[in-house]
Amino acid sequence: MRPEEGGAPRHWFREKLSLVLQPTGETSPPFFSATRPEKRRRNHPYLLRRFMVDLSFSEIQRLDLSEYQNIKKMVKICCIGAGYVGGPTMAVIALKCPSIEVAVVDISVPRINAWNSDQLPIYEPGLDDVVKQCRGKNLFFSTDVEKHVSEADIVFVSVNTPTKTRGLGAGKAADLTYWESAARMIADVSKSDKIVVEKSTVPVKTAEAIEKILTHNSKGINFQILSNPEFLAEGTAIQDLFKPDRVLIGGRETPEGLKAVKALKDVYAHWVPDERILTTNLWSAELSKLAANAFLAQRISSVNAMSALCEATGADVTQVSFAVGTDSRIGPKFLNTSVGFGGSCFQKDILNLVYICECNGLPEVAEYWKQVIKINDYQKTRFVNRVVASMFNTVANKKVAILGFAFKKDTGDTRETPAIDVCKGLLGDKARLSIYDPQVTEDQIQRDLTMNKFDWDHPLHLQPMSPTTVKQVSVVWDAYEATKDAHAVCVLTEWDEFKTLDFQKIYDNMQKPAFVFDGRNIINADKLREIGFIVYSIGKPLDAWLKDMPAVA
Ligand code: UDX
Ligand code: ADP
Repeated sequence: MRPEEGGAPRHWFREKLSLVLQPTGETSPPFFSATRPEKRRRNHPYLLRRFMVDLSFSEIQRLDLSEYQNIKKMVKICCIGAGYVGGPTMAVIALKCPSIEVAVVDISVPRINAWNSDQLPIYEPGLDDVVKQCRGKNLFFSTDVEKHVSEADIVFVSVNTPTKTRGLGAGKAADLTYWESAARMIADVSKSDKIVVEKSTVPVKTAEAIEKILTHNSKGINFQILSNPEFLAEGTAIQDLFKPDRVLIGGRETPEGLKAVKALKDVYAHWVPDERILTTNLWSAELSKLAANAFLAQRISSVNAMSALCEATGADVTQVSFAVGTDSRIGPKFLNTSVGFGGSCFQKDILNLVYICECNGLPEVAEYWKQVIKINDYQKTRFVNRVVASMFNTVANKKVAILGFAFKKDTGDTRETPAIDVCKGLLGDKARLSIYDPQVTEDQIQRDLTMNKFDWDHPLHLQPMSPTTVKQVSVVWDAYEATKDAHAVCVLTEWDEFKTLDFQKIYDNMQKPAFVFDGRNIINADKLREIGFIVYSIGKPLDAWLKDMPAVA
């Protein structure tokens, strides 16, 4: 019987009340004012504790039961690290879970200022819209790391995990400095139990190390560590987050661990169907992320290896990929040949995998995965050699236009972009480069070309900066400007706008013979040949001109 229908037995209310409170089982009370329900949305949850405590049975009786049923605990989430993963992921959680308050914190003041402005620090289609809908409501960006961590129920950690450049495991193992400092800070400022979620990719068994740091500094506070690796790809991050293939949550197989897994699952359950939320133990979740990226990168290295063979034999890699991909066991995705894969994850994750294999006495397995990176490096070198060999074995003082610098289209991200190695290779042969990318700034390009390998993966203000810039490089804001008077054009990112360029106009303004080297196979080679270009399309049958030049492998 409902209360307004003439009162309900006391145990009935208790049962309902406990149902409401059960999912919380934690410190913050529900976001609800029993005495003045009309004000419940404006009241701060922590001020309301006493209302719950003070509720008398008769007051409860006067309330509409639907109020109880609508009560949800106001979960607070904090994400440490406002980067490519933390920013978009938290924005989507805030959008899909209006009852959850999400704070994204970072030590970088400029980054947080940018998140709070109209010019977000990362370019990602659809992101502006999501941020605009939630920012200031239930999504906040702040540099007050400690305050937001201490208030949170769930803390996501999405900080940098660079590859070590010195000491044990240099060149392979992950440097967990930023992770460790985040964990120590969490332990320091926490006053209530917390779920700590690994979001950034970390080597297997990181959770165990973090658990040790937290529990040895815990002051009696209970921390549950979960691994919840992110599978979003840049450029499609918002779509990937809206409709993920799967969400993976790994946790300890103890009652507390399972409860924590359930709490995180409840967050995703706001918009992700149950069958797409996979739960595993901690190590499986950590390893699955490394494995998924290694498999994806392996596909690209496989097709890139084929591209070299196609050029040598006269086969067309696009036709080969298509034929291979129609086998339903293989599938058509991720079989596009390219000048090489880039991005912050693939190489780093494979190096981690290699290191873990070596540490576990599995050198053959380590060697197997290393080969994926070797082919990727080979592909970049092969491309540079092709350019130089085609242009009479020298590019010294020749202007070469570089179209695209980001590691893929629809992102301004340049981390591990193949463009860095290609540009460095051409500069090594004394070329003059004119670079155009619709989303990458001159400052970023100069940083990338002067930075040491692996230095990119530190917070911006801690990155070692070279005092000099590369003088042979100019960065322009237009493809036509970049190609004016150039001897050659290299297409290094598959931006859509490059497909519709007026190549007749470009040809007319270039030195002759005019070359186009397409590292992404996005331009219409036949049309360009008709105009008069000498064209190299990666993995495709070679022009007679290119065949006659020295071998490049
Ligand atoms: C990748 C994974 O896809 C994602 O699941 C994980 O969370 C992070 O790492 P991302 O690096 O953002 O995502 O981009 P992705 O689309 O995977 O591309 C990586 C690189 O591979 C790019 O340089 C891209 O140009 C290249 N690539 C991709 C190819 O060369 N050929 C292809 O067929 C696909
Ligand atoms: P990802 O691609 O994994 O999101 P990013 O490099 O884009 O990686 O983002 C990592 C962010 O983490 C950076 O903005 C960096 O400033 C931030 N960061 C690193 N260490 C800490 C820390 N201890 N506290 C807060 N933020 C941190």
